[in-house]
Amino acid sequence: MAHPYVVTISSEKGGVGKTTLATNLAIYLKALNEELPVTLLSFDNHFTVDRMFRIGRTQGRGDVADLMNGRAAEEIIEIGQYGVQFIPSSKNLHQIRDRIKNSDVLARVLAASALEGIVIIDTRPDLDVYTQNALFAADRVIVPVKDAPSLENCRNLYDFFDSQQLSRRPLRILPCLVDTRIRFDGPFKDTYQLLKGYAINRGYRCMEGFVAKSPKVESLSTNPEGKIYPVLTHGRGTDVHVQFTHLARQIYLEVIKEPERRLGQVQREEEQAVTCRSDAFVARRLRLESDCPLCGKQLVEAQGIINAGYYWETSDQALCGYLDDECFSEAVFRHFYRSKREIGTTDPLRELFRESAQRSYFVLRRGASTVNFHRQQLAFYRFDEEGLEVSCKIIDLKDLESSPGVAKQGLTALLARTLIEGDGLLGDRFLLIRRVGSDLPEEILYDDLHQPFLGAAVRIASQLP
Ligand SMILES: Nc1ncnc2c1ncn2[C@@H]1O[C@H](COP(=O)(O)OP(=O)(O)OP(=O)(O)O)[C@@H](O)[C@H]1O
Ligand SMILES: [Mg+2]
Repeated sequence: MAHPYVVTISSEKGGVGKTTLATNLAIYLKALNEELPVTLLSFDNHFTVDRMFRIGRTQGRGDVADLMNGRAAEEIIEIGQYGVQFIPSSKNLHQIRDRIKNSDVLARVLAASALEGIVIIDTRPDLDVYTQNALFAADRVIVPVKDAPSLENCRNLYDFFDSQQLSRRPLRILPCLVDTRIRFDGPFKDTYQLLKGYAINRGYRCMEGFVAKSPKVESLSTNPEGKIYPVLTHGRGTDVHVQFTHLARQIYLEVIKEPERRLGQVQREEEQAVTCRSDAFVARRLRLESDCPLCGKQLVEAQGIINAGYYWETSDQALCGYLDDECFSEAVFRHFYRSKREIGTTDPLRELFRESAQRSYFVLRRGASTVNFHRQQLAFYRFDEEGLEVSCKIIDLKDLESSPGVAKQGLTALLARTLIEGDGLLGDRFLLIRRVGSDLPEEILYDDLHQPFLGAAVRIASQLP
């Protein structure tokens, strides 16, 4: 199914004719081709779109806030006057503003929708997160400017495109509310020529033509009836009618000529990101050591990961694997907490440890400077979720050697496989250990959890002596 062509009308300057342009463009485009689906939505809180297009007094099944929350566009769309579809405006956008963290939310929702034809988006005079979303999704951005200061504001729009590494190609300046009575001497004869000259000078591209200021057009939204009339039906005698026709034709030709759609690109990028994420998962899964280095038990099987309680990775990311749930806590109690009495597997202290381990990162690393094998020290740190140090215990490696019950397995074996270098000394790298859920221990290998794990490793590394 073909994605729709998205036209966003945006300028940080208020009252330059954005909403008038968005609503009328929808009607003019529909008039050019009745078969072409045209959908309008606005992030403005003036409800002009709803007042102009809603037939009767229907309540609506949702609005643009629902759309931003991921509701399917086709569920909330309304068929309006003149055959234009619209998504109702919302009073609640400010309430969900903080939840919208990225600029690609709208593009993803629209890309996943069944919308076709053209989508026109009206924005607020503000580069807020909604405007950013409307810009991100756009094949064409029309930026109405009415004077030199509003042209200066355009820089922020261009900067936004640069910051998102988006091509500036969709951006087009359109001189609006141009007073054609004003004439100048010199190369620029009127406001339109002057604004166009300024724009080109700054490297901005322009739509063809302009929109003149017209008292008749102004009266279409401010009249004793309190109605908002389209220029097509109530302002045919004006220059603006000719100008809107010309603008609609330009957009229509782009829609017909240009097969590529921004939403198609967004969707492809999303699919690539998903593939990348799953490739990274598979690569990590393949690198796992299959047994627990503390007890030698096989944890990683083809069909899944069994009995794993902790995930470990060396700070240089060279080695990774899992630790058996019980034997890690046992090693911690035995070597670092030096408990006088035996802490059995059902002891409440074990339970407490397991519980608090969920909010911790554990680190094993060499202690103070190491001269020779027999004077080496091992440090065992606990960090919190934010990567801040909670505690540190240091033991002599030779005590570990002579610990009762320690054979070829246990902490010595773990260190030998991960931290001890060819010269028999503990190296610079450290071991980061994190509790994993028993129902899905693989989860930590997915980007969503593995990236924060690596982030914590970096924060922790910066604090280690
Ligand atoms: N071509 C025109 N000639 C005369 N008046 C116009 C023209 N276009 C729009 N207006 C009037 O200018 C005012 C502002 O227009 P509009 O609401 O479309 O601007 P806007 O950029 O959407 O404003 P805001 O930034 O507040 O959303 C309205 O009263 C409108 O009727
Ligand atoms: Mg407006």
